Amino acid sequence: NFTVKAGEVKTTVSPGMWGIFFEDINFSADGGIYAELVKNRSFEFSSPLMGWTIPEGAVSNGQIMVVNRKDDNSSNPRFAKITLPAARPFTLVNEGFRGMGIKAGEQYHFSLYARQQPGSAVKFTVTLLDDAGKTIGTTTVSLDSNNWQLYKTGLTAAATAAKGKLQLTFTGTGVIDVDMISLFPQHTWKERSNGLRADLVQLLADLRPGFLRFPGGCIVEGRELVNRYQWKKTVGDVNEREVIINRWNNEFAHRAAPDYFQSFGLGFFEYFLLAEDIGASPLPILNCGMACQFNSAEVVAINELDPYIQDALDLIEFANGDVNTKWGALRAKMGHPAAFNLKMMGVGNEQWGPQYVERYTLFAKAIKNKYPEIRLVNSLGPGPSGDKFNFLNDTLRKLHADILDEHYYSSPEWFLSNASRYDSYDRKGPKIFAGEYAAHGKGTDGYHKNSWQSALTEAAFMTGLERNADVVEMASYAPLLAHVDGWQWAPDLIWFDNLRSYGTPNYYVQKLYANNKGTVVVPILKDNQVISGQDSVYASTVVDEQSGELVIKLVNASATAKPVAVAVEGVKGLAANGRLTILRSNDLQAINTLDKPLGISPEEKNIAIKGKTVRTEIAPWSFYVVRAKIN
Ligand code: AHR
Repeated sequence: NFTVKAGEVKTTVSPGMWGIFFEDINFSADGGIYAELVKNRSFEFSSPLMGWTIPEGAVSNGQIMVVNRKDDNSSNPRFAKITLPAARPFTLVNEGFRGMGIKAGEQYHFSLYARQQPGSAVKFTVTLLDDAGKTIGTTTVSLDSNNWQLYKTGLTAAATAAKGKLQLTFTGTGVIDVDMISLFPQHTWKERSNGLRADLVQLLADLRPGFLRFPGGCIVEGRELVNRYQWKKTVGDVNEREVIINRWNNEFAHRAAPDYFQSFGLGFFEYFLLAEDIGASPLPILNCGMACQFNSAEVVAINELDPYIQDALDLIEFANGDVNTKWGALRAKMGHPAAFNLKMMGVGNEQWGPQYVERYTLFAKAIKNKYPEIRLVNSLGPGPSGDKFNFLNDTLRKLHADILDEHYYSSPEWFLSNASRYDSYDRKGPKIFAGEYAAHGKGTDGYHKNSWQSALTEAAFMTGLERNADVVEMASYAPLLAHVDGWQWAPDLIWFDNLRSYGTPNYYVQKLYANNKGTVVVPILKDNQVISGQDSVYASTVVDEQSGELVIKLVNASATAKPVAVAVEGVKGLAANGRLTILRSNDLQAINTLDKPLGISPEEKNIAIKGKTVRTEIAPWSFYVVRAKIN
């Protein structure tokens, strides 16, 4: 039997709870949430014709060549030059990102930049192909300029294809140059051009996240500094954003992706906009002058750190600055004169050692000097324990860090036993951001799965994050998104193919927490002790002062049902009917799939409440959320 002291406010729930972590891993951006269907649209991949099928012999006889105008200092230096001898058409096919998802009845916006040499007369036909190579949409455009010009056309698909392709057939005579060949569905999130995939953004919006951390992850660091994430190269005209290799390119042999690059069509402006759209506070993470320490020992010399620090200062101006400032003006030009209300920023991701402290100290000094209101997030490095963690934890606490970002990818057992992790943390030091976590259970084929066991143990662990809201300000599961045919890391919160997407059981755990976060934490006790695993039951309680409801979260991590009676003290009474949401499965290894996306998903029902005691029996291996109106 449990007691809730509903009149004793332990602490307020941070508005940042519960957030999301976005990284371009597993084809999350290009090939994922970024709705562009053409891969290598500007011929900038390290193998310039990757993603394109070229007719046999066309390259060797010079019918297509990729020209590099690197000397012009262009950030998009390459284009394709195609020669059309009389009456011999030339066909190019783009394979998309593991195919293109094309929907019957949907309009597609095609565009390309082209110019033709004087004396040429060229037309091109744009064709959508289905999985079998059959035409499902087509239209023709004539070129009419000797200067670079944007050509646009629309075409409607007559059928659906999960692994469709785009075919371009050039006819006529002469020589033409083409670049930035692009195909977007008409319906993107908020119908924006250069937009995002609406189904994936909707899944994020449904979480009602408190913050959006971006753009990673290791991707911030790059395997080498030259390929680190540089936000300034990801804003402004999409055509001028420099393509670089993705840090996850070819990372794991089982899903080798030599074609994994970053077009930055989804860049920092779009990330800020996404955060705003879904009501999340933006949390950008910047490179601190160090490449990924899992891959390289490359750091920038301290006397060359200034441009990195300047990037951080300029980002604050880009997000919050007046439209008369240099970077604020760019934001306005891109369509957002209002500030993005940036309040916090991360410096470095999973970096450790004295090299990090040395660099972070210089960042912190410069940022706090100019923008004292910006709170800084420090990564505590990988893993829940060990020397690296201890060194940084001690050092950063001494430096009065604002927020420490802990990452833990551990076993389900670790998550259960760490539900009490923050019960005894220092209340006077920095706040905690549980910035990346996921329970990694053993899948039968050797890969970690989004099993019900992983989700259930995360739910148990999260009772501890919620109970300790005075220390733990923010938390996010990681990674967020994964393409079923192009992933490097599992488990992930949301999976998708080219047409469909689904939330894992872990997604529904996150959603239940975020949609029931309340405004203040109140104590729930068993025999005067906080509940964190006694008899396999984990619990936390919040009050939502806006709706006047008590919210009780209960996790039963055992194989037997547990009858519970929760006596609520400190209230006059409770409404006779409450709402009960249950997430459960009787198979710990059960997962959701594209074909069965709601296999494990919340069920809602009424719960009768007698007097001031909530009684229920929590089913084996289940997560219960009770909402009861306080009288
Ligand atoms: O989430 C995947 C990776 O895990 C992130 O890029 C990194 O921060 C962590 O090691």
